[in-house]
Amino acid sequence: MKVQYFAASTLDGFIATEDDSLEWLFALGELDNSSYPTFIANVGALVMGSATYEWILNNAEQVAAETGSPWPYTQPTWVFSSRELPLIEGANIHFVQGDITPVYAEIQSIIEDKNIWIVGGGELAGQFYDANLLDELIIQIGSVTLGKGKALFPRSVFAPTLKLISVHHMGEGMVELHYSVDRKTEI
Ligand SMILES: NC(=O)c1ccc[n+]([C@@H]2O[C@H](COP(=O)([O-])OP(=O)(O)OC[C@H]3O[C@@H](n4cnc5c(N)ncnc54)[C@H](OP(=O)(O)O)[C@@H]3O)[C@@H](O)[C@H]2O)c1
Repeated sequence: MKVQYFAASTLDGFIATEDDSLEWLFALGELDNSSYPTFIANVGALVMGSATYEWILNNAEQVAAETGSPWPYTQPTWVFSSRELPLIEGANIHFVQGDITPVYAEIQSIIEDKNIWIVGGGELAGQFYDANLLDELIIQIGSVTLGKGKALFPRSVFAPTLKLISVHHMGEGMVELHYSVDRKTEI
């Protein structure tokens, strides 16, 4: 079982604009050879912050048009928020808040040997890293820049560095970088 942060980023390290637009991502069009189908087949649970959840909530029509459902995931999902949020119809959602460690233990007890997908945002992925619970980053880097926006991974990681597992060419629009994180032996 691995904890994987899989996200798309601009070349300058942003996953969305400051006002949560993903237009930069859709502007890239159809992408070749995405690893997403293989990746999602091994995911047992999703974890996301409230801005990511609210993006899906606020763009339900667009999501349904593209995926056939306003909630395109079959796996249970844990949404971190200090607020009460509406439930998306058909979604298996657990609303949680605070320390991620007990939430991780709860997820682990349910999904057995499947992987946990940290959908985003970057700060939530950083909370898993801080707790020594993040195993991999799979980052699809689009051939665009935004100058500013929501950060991909607002943490300092350099000793030890991330370990590059693979580089996957996805045509002119994207490249996928797959890294493993050395879990600290002591924290
Ligand atoms: N490009 C991609 O692949 C990709 C992937 C994922 C997301 N996105 C987009 O990127 C943006 C991400 O937004 P974001 O950076 O603001 O991150 P986010 O993680 O989606 O949302 C952050 C919010 O989640 C809540 N939260 C996070 N950790 C918490 C905790 N431990 N306890 C309680 N609440 C917690 C807080 O809000 P409250 O407590 O006020 O609810 C926090 O302000 C969204 O627009 C999303 O659609 C893009």
